[in-house]
Formats: sequence, structure tokens, C-alpha cells
Amino acid sequence: MKKVGILISGRGSNMMALVEAAGDAYEVVVVASDKPDAPGLAWAHEHGIPTFALSPKGIGKPAYEAAMTAALREAGAEILALAGYMRLLSDEFVADWRGRILNIHPSLLPAYKGLDTHARAIAAGDAEAGCSVHVVTEELDAGEVLGQARVPILPGDDAHTLADRVLAEEHRLYPAVLADFAAR
Ligand code: GRF
Repeated sequence: MKKVGILISGRGSNMMALVEAAGDAYEVVVVASDKPDAPGLAWAHEHGIPTFALSPKGIGKPAYEAAMTAALREAGAEILALAGYMRLLSDEFVADWRGRILNIHPSLLPAYKGLDTHARAIAAGDAEAGCSVHVVTEELDAGEVLGQARVPILPGDDAHTLADRVLAEEHRLYPAVLADFAAR
């Protein structure tokens, strides 16, 4: 069974979905964060999953990423799943884990890379929105798309109502794609 490290920055609802759906498909061996007070860390700890937290503030990105990689390796992680991890990874970090980092992005890539995806989809008058799981490369939100889920954009939607609808799909899509990826 492949060992997975999950990186979060916030509430970690995708991380929780990945943990709860793991079954025999993969094993979550560590949840790591750049935010020592990320709410998701406490949840992981309560669920018996080792956690690691380190703020890059004051130590700089290279030292931060070196410590992060060391902790992930020590935990035995073979695959990294970014789940609401809000920091850009350096080219060196991506190269270190090449082809083994996945991310979930709340748009139908290649549309709406970056932030504010839901507001942009509504402003554009799109009929559909969704989420994508993709391989992380040096270029933001640009690696191979491994799976997508679609939802309608409904009359009266704002960024929050749309985000909630997409998030429910994220929680289904990410574990399914990670399970396939881990079986490769
Ligand atoms: C999700 O919308 C995810 O697609 C985006 O950030 C949000 C994270 O939510 N990258 P959570 O921390 O998984 O609850």
C-alpha cells in the first residue's frame, strides 16, 4: 500500500475526506502544514495520524522546504497530496518529488488557474464549474489533469454557494483519483 503525506494550510476538509476514504487504497502516514495553528492538524492528531507543522516565517523557504521534505521522508511518504496548501512550492521541491505530488484545484482546469476561481466563473457567465485533481509541476496549476468533477452554476449563485457545491465534489473526486494514482 502506497504511503501518502498530506499538506494543508487551513481547515483541511479535503484532507479529512482523503483520510476517511483511504481504506486499502493508500495509507496516510503524515499530515503536514506551514501553519502550526491549522485546524486540520488537530483533527489529524485526534485521528491518530502523525502531524508535522513548521512556519517558514523567519527561516526562509529553502530551510523550510528542507525540513518539510525531511519530515515527509521520515514518515515514509511516497506520494504528496496537497489539500488546501496555500504556498507555492519551489522548483527544487517539485523536482525532488517529481511526478509524485497531486493537488486539488477548484476549477475545471485549464480554466481559472490561481485564486478566486468561483467568482471568476460566475462573472464569466459560465454554466458549469467544478474541480480538478492534477499532477503538480513547476508551473502553477498546469500539470497533467488526472480527474475532474462538474457541477452546474445555478441562478443566484455567489462564490460561497458555488464553492460549497464544488467542495462536496472535491471530497468525492480526490480520494478516488488518489486511489487510482496509488495503484499505478
Ligand atoms: C479547496 O477549495 C481546494 O480546492 C482549494 O482550497 C480549498 C481547501 O479546502 N485548493 P480544505 O482546506 O480542503 O477544506
